[in-house]
Amino acid sequence: MTQPVNVTFSETDIDRIADLTGRVVVFVGEDGKLDQAARRVNRLTKGALERFVGSEKFTKMKTAEARDLAFPAGLAADAVQVVRLDRRASVGDARKAGAAIGKAHGEGALFVLAGTLKNAAHVALGIALRAYRFDDHKTDDEKPFGDVEVMVSKPDEVSAQAAPLLHVVEGVFFTRDLTMEPANVLTTTEFADRLAAMKDLGLKVEVLEEPELEKLGMRTLLSVGHGSESPSKVVVMQWNGGGDEAPLALVGKGVVFDTGGISLKPAAGMEDMTMDMGGAGVVAGVMRAVALRKAKANIVGLVGIVENMPSGRATRPGDVIRSMKGDTVEIINTDAEGRLVLADVLWYTQDRFKPSGIVDLATLTGAIIIGLGHENAGVFSNDDDFCQNFLKAAQAEGEGAWRLPLGAAYDKQLKSQIADMKNVGGRSAGSITAAQFLQRFIKEDTPWIHLDIAGVASVKSDTDFAPKGSTGWGVRALDRMIADSYEG
Ligand code: BES
Ligand code: MN
Ligand code: ZN
Repeated sequence: MTQPVNVTFSETDIDRIADLTGRVVVFVGEDGKLDQAARRVNRLTKGALERFVGSEKFTKMKTAEARDLAFPAGLAADAVQVVRLDRRASVGDARKAGAAIGKAHGEGALFVLAGTLKNAAHVALGIALRAYRFDDHKTDDEKPFGDVEVMVSKPDEVSAQAAPLLHVVEGVFFTRDLTMEPANVLTTTEFADRLAAMKDLGLKVEVLEEPELEKLGMRTLLSVGHGSESPSKVVVMQWNGGGDEAPLALVGKGVVFDTGGISLKPAAGMEDMTMDMGGAGVVAGVMRAVALRKAKANIVGLVGIVENMPSGRATRPGDVIRSMKGDTVEIINTDAEGRLVLADVLWYTQDRFKPSGIVDLATLTGAIIIGLGHENAGVFSNDDDFCQNFLKAAQAEGEGAWRLPLGAAYDKQLKSQIADMKNVGGRSAGSITAAQFLQRFIKEDTPWIHLDIAGVASVKSDTDFAPKGSTGWGVRALDRMIADSYEG
């Protein structure tokens, strides 16, 4: 697993500045005022920093932006990175500044002269989130990221603030690694094994195998995996850090590869479907984060892990399958498989855990990318308060999320001539009819949120906090919602 960059906190010692190697970061306020460390850098460089701050190069910089002064005379460092940030900058700006630093970070050492910066812990979070690279399958060893030392006036305090944040980064990285991993490596068995290994963190983990799933009647889930050589699985992860209250449940779509099945996808871009387990990846990342930071809450995470392949055993268009709930589904398109996986896992989750609420995550529809692009996940819910609570957390974390409607008129599109429902609702409102399908497997009194993350789980260009590729979208929002609303 990709480990976050190593971050330590130490007391500011301006006498070390001249000898620091690698990259040295100084913060300059919006007004161009230099703090104690920056003044020392300025003196050692014979006024270079002041000249920079006096130039257009600085005045044109936006808040939380960074620029390098390369190979400064008077310092051992290869670069001084100047970051425009006030001492009392907000959490959001501090994180953005951290991301700018993390983006430039490489194999050399990094010294961040944060002094009395109020949100130094969040600068560390930003650095750690952005300094990510998935290079497990690169033959030539790339050098790991250099260590990060953050110098502050109160290292113990800042270090304590940063600890839970850095645990969340580990959760995010777990999600990103799983989602980046190709399908010949992350088979259904390998995925379940990686989740089972989280027992070491104090999570209870069960892997339900096919015979068990058959006994439970999870036929819609099993129908998706029928064409694959890899066995379908459901993994149940439990974190019992709270009292005896009902748990919050997280449910994820874990399609390790989605060929479309007999309704085969076109070749162009099919390789992207290695990320079709992204929903399950987020569930896994949140479970890892809550376990690492020993959250005082009861959380269960359930993921349906299958592979959607065509073969002589694969489910056909036209087949009718009876779900665990008992409702029958006419399969119109075997490429609308995520909802079939989730239907049974959602039902099982309610049946077994009677959760206080369910959040499901799935790379469910291409239509959500048409509607919202890569900026926002689609949010659907049967409960306004629950939904607002999530949206608030997502906004605070800067993870885009936009609510879309549900309604009986959309549900009608799922009517089937020969079964209780079809698995697709036609061309219009494809993401909404997918959500309607899921809602048919939610009991009326279960607060429920469905997150369609097809557009945000993995992206083709850099975002603020991640290089291109898997983002880990949702781990931070869900962790924050848990911290803010489910812990004491
Ligand atoms: N995994 C896909 C959705 C997807 C598309 C995720 C692009 C990420 C990027 C899903 O299983 C799927 O194939 N959905 C179909 C549904 C259709 C057949 C009703 C789609 O969106 O085309
Ligand atoms: Mn599909
Ligand atoms: Zn899919």
